[in-house]
Amino acid sequence: MTTLLHDDEQLLRARVVLASKIERVSGALSSRVVEAFLNVPRHPFVPVFYRLEQDGVHRPCRADAGWLREVYADRVLVTEVDGVHAEDAGPEGVRGVATSSSTLPSLMADMLDALDVRPGDRVLEIGTGTGYNAALLCHLAGAAHVTTVDRAEYLVATARTRLGEAGFEAVAVRVDGADGYPDGAPYDRVIATCGVRRLPPAWLDQCVPGGLVVAPVGGAVARLTKLPDGRAVGRFLHRPAAFMPLRGEGTAGWEVAEARAGSRATELDSYVLDDPGFAFWADLHLGPTVVRDGRALRDFADGSTARAHGRTVVLGGPRDLWRTVEAAHRAWLDQNRPRREWLTVEAGPEGQFVGCTAPDGSTVRWSL
Ligand SMILES: C[S@@+](CC[C@H](N)C(=O)[O-])C[C@H]1O[C@@H](n2cnc3c(N)ncnc32)[C@H](O)[C@@H]1O
Repeated sequence: MTTLLHDDEQLLRARVVLASKIERVSGALSSRVVEAFLNVPRHPFVPVFYRLEQDGVHRPCRADAGWLREVYADRVLVTEVDGVHAEDAGPEGVRGVATSSSTLPSLMADMLDALDVRPGDRVLEIGTGTGYNAALLCHLAGAAHVTTVDRAEYLVATARTRLGEAGFEAVAVRVDGADGYPDGAPYDRVIATCGVRRLPPAWLDQCVPGGLVVAPVGGAVARLTKLPDGRAVGRFLHRPAAFMPLRGEGTAGWEVAEARAGSRATELDSYVLDDPGFAFWADLHLGPTVVRDGRALRDFADGSTARAHGRTVVLGGPRDLWRTVEAAHRAWLDQNRPRREWLTVEAGPEGQFVGCTAPDGSTVRWSL
């Protein structure tokens, strides 16, 4: 498979370079996953992507001298900004928020490894995007067993065509991923490549007992096994995962209302929230109604807001959200900085919970 500027040998070498980078970053991966990255090319799925330039504008990057290197680097490639696909963008580019991308390959590898796909497994992917991850799933399971869904018709149609050209006749459908895809259920494996606060029940319902669900939940990737009684239990992967959200969860686009707010000093410097390990722990303490955007917090239940700048925190609404972050930080230090992979996750009819066993044997449970 050649491109206008690159021959087959260059393309093969690029895949070998990417696969060895992934192995270095991800550590002990199953050989089946590494082999999938060696066999499935990324470039047919990202003929054009955006580069975010210094002036804050996303400009389309088409096959040029640097294109192949970027395609086979361990990098996220943004392909859609506020609904404008890179393939439709003019050279002046667009400003806005990324709404579709090809995920960081080493993170894809970790998630595929956790998903443990075997030939013949029925797989559902939520978040088709470019179709590259779906192509890897097809390589692992067999294309006849893979269903991938996305919210945008254009993305789905383009991915379907590109998958077909790569020899993978998978089912690609435009639906709201929150509903899964009941027409193809049940699935042995369910994977989401967009993030959620809580797992949509459909993803668990459509998975068979003994099956696996891998999905970014609250900034970390959860891996759950479906139990015969309908519940699902599992843990988080060790690495952080900032995914674009499953749209329709209704939390996008908000500002801390600083005009109405007061401020106070804090001993806890705001940089603590730049540590993804602590940020995940803080989010659990803040609870399911609080959304965090970097160092800014908002509780959708009571309208409280907080934004920390160094050792000053600007607060709005009835509740001091930063007090919760301060308490979370004390507990985090007391418990020897618990890592996300030490925590358990469970989902069932009584709710979705994350659990932590402290060094003294006591357990804490947070509702997702
Ligand atoms: C990080 S991208 C997926 C990357 C993709 N797996 C790939 O290999 O290129 C996240 C995708 O989730 C999709 N998405 C967001 N909200 C969705 C929803 N409610 N239903 C289905 N897909 C959704 C976005 O359109 C976007 O394409």
